[in-house]
Amino acid sequence: MRKLDACARWEIAIIGAALPRPRFATLRGMNANPFSGELAGRRIVLGLTGGAACFKAAELCRLLVKSGATVQVVMTEAACQFITPVAMQALSGQPVYTSQWDARPDNNMAHINLSRAADAIVVAPASADFIAQLAQGRAAELLPLLCLARPAERVPLLLAPSMNREMWAHPATQRNVVQALRDGTQVLGVAWGEQACGETGDGRMLEAPELLEELIAVFAPKALAGQRVLITAGPTFEAIDPVRGITNRSSGKMGFAIARAAREAGAEVTLVAGPVSLPTPRGVERIDVVSALNMREAVMGCAQDAHIFIATAAVADWRPAQEAEHKIKKDGSGEVPRMDFVENPDILAEVAHGARAQAGELFCVGFAAESENLQANAQAKRARKGVPLLVANIGPATFGRDDNALLLVDDEGVTELPHASKRVLAQQLVDEIARRVSGWSA
Ligand code: C5P
Repeated sequence: MRKLDACARWEIAIIGAALPRPRFATLRGMNANPFSGELAGRRIVLGLTGGAACFKAAELCRLLVKSGATVQVVMTEAACQFITPVAMQALSGQPVYTSQWDARPDNNMAHINLSRAADAIVVAPASADFIAQLAQGRAAELLPLLCLARPAERVPLLLAPSMNREMWAHPATQRNVVQALRDGTQVLGVAWGEQACGETGDGRMLEAPELLEELIAVFAPKALAGQRVLITAGPTFEAIDPVRGITNRSSGKMGFAIARAAREAGAEVTLVAGPVSLPTPRGVERIDVVSALNMREAVMGCAQDAHIFIATAAVADWRPAQEAEHKIKKDGSGEVPRMDFVENPDILAEVAHGARAQAGELFCVGFAAESENLQANAQAKRARKGVPLLVANIGPATFGRDDNALLLVDDEGVTELPHASKRVLAQQLVDEIARRVSGWSA
């Protein structure tokens, strides 16, 4: 009880301080943050329970505010042992709630007011004990109380578990996680790694940017719910010898952005990626490949049960006919090596001409990077590849960049997606595909 009293004293000090609220417009305007504005106007309750990962909740709070959200922090008694409400108030720009007996609200019902005012509740870190309380419907403190009181159909609840590996693996915790899931709570995964206690294993809380990505996904319309989407991205690398090869300047950014947007739209996404060092979007299954032949093999396996195939990869058109077993060396004579090439299989055309695509069970989308006559080239390529939708862009203007402009060519004609970030274009393209898929398969 002494600890709770300490929290309550902080609380009184905080109420008196009446700090001004942050100017979100200014923060959004800074635009240095890749998530800038993505949560504009959203009201998030950020709950903290006891765990060493509370320091990550501080970063999450910062990212949420930078993304445009209004953040209301609620801390349990145990959380106050790990980080102070003062720190969380400073970061959120709002007085922190720690007690169900907080007398500030006129009606003295903080649990009702906070849960009704929220667009989503995220508890990070969520301790084993907190998950157990939720699973049992217990509400001894303000945070579990407001989770219990939330209008579940309108206010999603996300938990970011954080605990020692034995606690996480314990059958009781796993039972409670299953119960929480059944009750409509979204329980996010845990990471494997070194833990605060010195042990190594599963149970680390996800990193703040990962949690932010999950929260942004919660608000996306689920236009592709129930769809399995297969995407290729990045360049391929065609080996000449053990140390050299032929590749291209594709960064993979567009394909990765589409994978993220498709998953946010509710799809089950598999991303077949050539050699790029981009992080895998949350919730996306990634298969790393090197050459066009590797990519073809991975795609053919997955295309069997996909509903949508989006080929964004810049697949090498040719590969060396033979890969030398050892490094090809200069011999000082000035003679250059001769090299024969063979054509790589056209993965998109093969899938698009396959039985499932022809039967209308698989919707294929191709990309075309052109350097001139965008529309005419795109229309010709669409016919050649046999795809219902072809997305064209100017190659040199997109490779490696974070922004682009797209031209969609299909039976309807031509649709322009004007210049924007690849993130925004990916969201728009996913909407366009979802619209065509529901009309197309009907
Ligand atoms: O023929 P071109 O390379 O311009 O076609 C581009 C489109 O075809 C892209 O969607 C690309 O991913 C796909 N492609 C493929 N396999 C190849 C070449 C291109 O899937 N070998």
